[in-house]
Amino acid sequence: MINCLSYGKPFETMAVVEKVAPAEALTHFSFEKKTVDGVPSLVFTYELSPEDIVYGLGETMHGINKRGYRYIIFNTDDPHHSDNMPSLYGAHNFIVVDGREHFGVFFDTPARVVFDIDSKGDGLLTVYCETEDLKLYQLEGDTSYAITKEFLGVIGQSYVPPLWAFGYGQSRWGYKSASDISTVAAKYEKAGIPLDFICADIDYMDRFIDFTVHPKRFPDMKGFCRFMGSRGVHLVPIIDAGIKIEPGNPVYEEGVKNDYFCKRSDGKNFGAAVWPGLTHFPDFCKPEARRWFGRQFKTLTDQGIEGFWIDMNEPATFWLEPGTPAAEWTPVPDEERLTPESKRADEYHRFYHDYDGRRMVNYDVHNVFGHFMAMGSGEGLNEVLPDHRYLLFSRSSYVGTHRYAGIWTGDNHSDWLMLKRNLTQMPGLNMVGLLYSGADTGGFGGNVSRELLLRWNALSDFTPLFRNHSYKCAIRQECYRFNGVSDFRDVISLRYRLLPYLYSEFVKAALAQDMYMKPLGFAWPEDETARRCEDQLLVGENIMIAPVLEKGAEGREVYLPVAMTEVRFDGRDFATRKVPAGTYTVNVPLNEVVFWILPDRCVPVANKLCMSTKDMDLADVSLLGDGSSYDQYRDDGYTKDVSEKNIVHLTK
Ligand code: GLC
Repeated sequence: MINCLSYGKPFETMAVVEKVAPAEALTHFSFEKKTVDGVPSLVFTYELSPEDIVYGLGETMHGINKRGYRYIIFNTDDPHHSDNMPSLYGAHNFIVVDGREHFGVFFDTPARVVFDIDSKGDGLLTVYCETEDLKLYQLEGDTSYAITKEFLGVIGQSYVPPLWAFGYGQSRWGYKSASDISTVAAKYEKAGIPLDFICADIDYMDRFIDFTVHPKRFPDMKGFCRFMGSRGVHLVPIIDAGIKIEPGNPVYEEGVKNDYFCKRSDGKNFGAAVWPGLTHFPDFCKPEARRWFGRQFKTLTDQGIEGFWIDMNEPATFWLEPGTPAAEWTPVPDEERLTPESKRADEYHRFYHDYDGRRMVNYDVHNVFGHFMAMGSGEGLNEVLPDHRYLLFSRSSYVGTHRYAGIWTGDNHSDWLMLKRNLTQMPGLNMVGLLYSGADTGGFGGNVSRELLLRWNALSDFTPLFRNHSYKCAIRQECYRFNGVSDFRDVISLRYRLLPYLYSEFVKAALAQDMYMKPLGFAWPEDETARRCEDQLLVGENIMIAPVLEKGAEGREVYLPVAMTEVRFDGRDFATRKVPAGTYTVNVPLNEVVFWILPDRCVPVANKLCMSTKDMDLADVSLLGDGSSYDQYRDDGYTKDVSEKNIVHLTK
């Protein structure tokens, strides 16, 4: 059961796309309209019971159970990720309370929202929405999983990228030219490590200007893409939110002429510096500006490019154009607000959007900027690539972004905590439909160790986006640069052997508007150990994973809620054995990956290892596990006609 309460004049975020009945009353929470730190707010409070778990909040720090901390949902691009970070890049205001009662709530507002989930140990869950306009969706159901599925049912189907987007991707801020990129591809080939895409960071552009290609570094982009394509490797360039202010830049000129940019308080176009210097931000709140921005991708798709990542869309700003009028706001006291983003709060009060004729300051609609950019980009790509699916992943997002794109979890660090957070963020992201997601494998900032990269690969083997990306000042992070390259080959090979399953489970989850990765508590809600488990996940319907997340560990303790088939992959063969329910210690050498198949289930694995999905035959599979059949989704990997008719019933 789902219903909706409206407060004030809610902003249409386009998160929910199905019709939802109006609510008669607020349930579970007590409500107060009051001014908090000088900001008129809607405040909701619920008293948690000791046994309650709180799931959700998508891309946030801390564990799967969000209880015990305070979260500030206000999209920020601060790269200093640690558990002290109250805000990250996305806004996913959906939570499910699981315990004495079961219910879900989605606070649908583009404004700043603070979730205090029992941070003081007083059992209070208090949600401060810094707005007077809100849609509040209330969900009831028997279990957290049922409630989540109901929510997924109203926010629309997840976008499905092409098959090659499920292959392994290599990236680095620092690849400068076509020759840099083809060298990376050649080295992967020589190392015998499969590869499907390489990301081009800002250096492929002409002076970091969107929708341009550097004429010297990529003198023949079309030919280059064709050449790379023949080797099974796709190029995935980055696109940033800001359009460089430069007469002669046709995108800039068109945007000015048609009035597509965000405004300052004096009515002039707002200017802020990002990578190319001063830029204007498209006003993604305007449907015509979104459509215009989306159509710009044609410049690059005409070169043979079919995948992109969109960035700096919180939006990130380095400094404002001199002469930008001061903000029309009074800064609020900060101590209690724990706001690392507050350094930008003033800037976000200095530019405006036109939302359906209403002038709105960015601060008040801040959390949908990246979402609307993804929407414009996805719709544009759909139009300019009529015959193929596209790959698109965004840094910033809101609920609903999943219909157009996936996300990566931003500028993480090469440390073990971020490996854990990669795992703990996945269920929350799946709860808001963001199935196609993953972290910068190996970590973006800092220097990765061989051990951490191997363990991280073993987790990313299962995340839909599997991309190794790093900062230009970090040590080189390509797998072939480390000693004992065959260990990397062994671990990444698993991805390709499991792809028939991973791809099938992803598409089936998208079609059914279901989750692809789930916490154990969603499958075994009565099992207290499963409910409290923070370091194991379900992948699709049939696999459980328990990755090694500690430095120096030779293995780990694993909890099996039921008897399962343990599968050990050593780079060549799958060794299986039955293991009873309970806890046991599993030994996992650095070159091996262990996972578990649920009872009476099967998992299709590719009989042959291929070096890219271009050579993959999704039908050439064997079934592992003690079940007798599997319903496999398979298609040509790029058709837009993704439907149940492509499901094939396989038997042993
Ligand atoms: C941002 C992105 C990062 C990228 C860099 C340069 O920090 O998050 O992935 O490498 O910008 O474009």
